[in-house]
Amino acid sequence: MPPQPPRPVPDFLYGTAWKEDRTPALTELALRVGFRAIDTANQRRHYFEEGVGQGLAAAYRAGVVTRDDLFLQTKFTYQPGQDHRLPYDPTALLSVQVAQSIASSLEHLTTDHVDSYVLHGPSSNQDWTDADAEVWQAMRKERDAARTRLLGVSNVSLRHLQQMAAARAELPAFVQNRCYARLGWDRAVRSFCREHKIVYQGFSLLTANQEVLHHPLIASLAASANATPAQVVFSFARSIGILPLTGTTNAQHMKQDLASRDVKLPPEAVQAIESVAD
Ligand SMILES: NC(=O)c1ccc[n+]([C@@H]2O[C@H](COP(=O)([O-])OP(=O)(O)OC[C@H]3O[C@@H](n4cnc5c(N)ncnc54)[C@H](OP(=O)(O)O)[C@@H]3O)[C@@H](O)[C@H]2O)c1
Repeated sequence: MPPQPPRPVPDFLYGTAWKEDRTPALTELALRVGFRAIDTANQRRHYFEEGVGQGLAAAYRAGVVTRDDLFLQTKFTYQPGQDHRLPYDPTALLSVQVAQSIASSLEHLTTDHVDSYVLHGPSSNQDWTDADAEVWQAMRKERDAARTRLLGVSNVSLRHLQQMAAARAELPAFVQNRCYARLGWDRAVRSFCREHKIVYQGFSLLTANQEVLHHPLIASLAASANATPAQVVFSFARSIGILPLTGTTNAQHMKQDLASRDVKLPPEAVQAIESVAD
């Protein structure tokens, strides 16, 4: 099957990392507050994917949403990124590990497909390796079998993406990266993404950029937009083409994060924030 054209992609992702026993309740709460896109991973060390499934089930039962209303994203994580709770047989071929991991994700999330399946991180910080090529091929096979609509890669450098392109690998629909203001908000990777029509998902927009959150520029923009500094950062992110993630555990922050979609910043403010930490 040829690559599927990108369908409408959500404008905010609710992230479920580090929530442990609170995962079901927080996932359900995020849906009740209005999030329609959920990010998780089959990596028990940092995520409780089965708990996400429990939260979805509770929201379905209560009539808050249906599966069709949602964008569900999960990830394949190599063994070094996992603890002992593996969703696959570590002695199996990588391609088999991918098949086992996604089958387990679909079970956790009680669905026959996810909307996006992401390689959590390449096997090397330096290069796009043969192992990555094998995993990517296996992920494409899952996409072709309709167990995911779209594919993504996470924690990648410009070099990884350039090597994928040089190897004539199919490029991802999504890149998901930690977004540091001091690196021009991941400017080089974002620019590659723009050029290749890849949607850039940014995480740790708040936690990785505390100095920006407390910067006088943000404070004054927040005051004039009648918004919070966090809302200014999310609004800015969207203005430069970043699809933001939030992992908030607080109902008020969930509402504020979604309301940041209505915070409009003037172009000169967007430009100033883009280079605030350069
Ligand atoms: N691919 C990867 O390797 C990777 C790595 C890390 C994260 N992620 C994904 O990205 C998601 C989000 O992670 P993250 O690092 O961006 O967020 P996060 O670590 O979950 O933290 C968000 C922080 O910002 C605060 N916050 C959120 N909204 C706020 C608001 N409106 N005002 C003030 N504070 C606010 C939260 O506090 P409160 O809880 O008090 O609101 C929390 O301390 C994760 O859950 C995961 O799904 C992926």
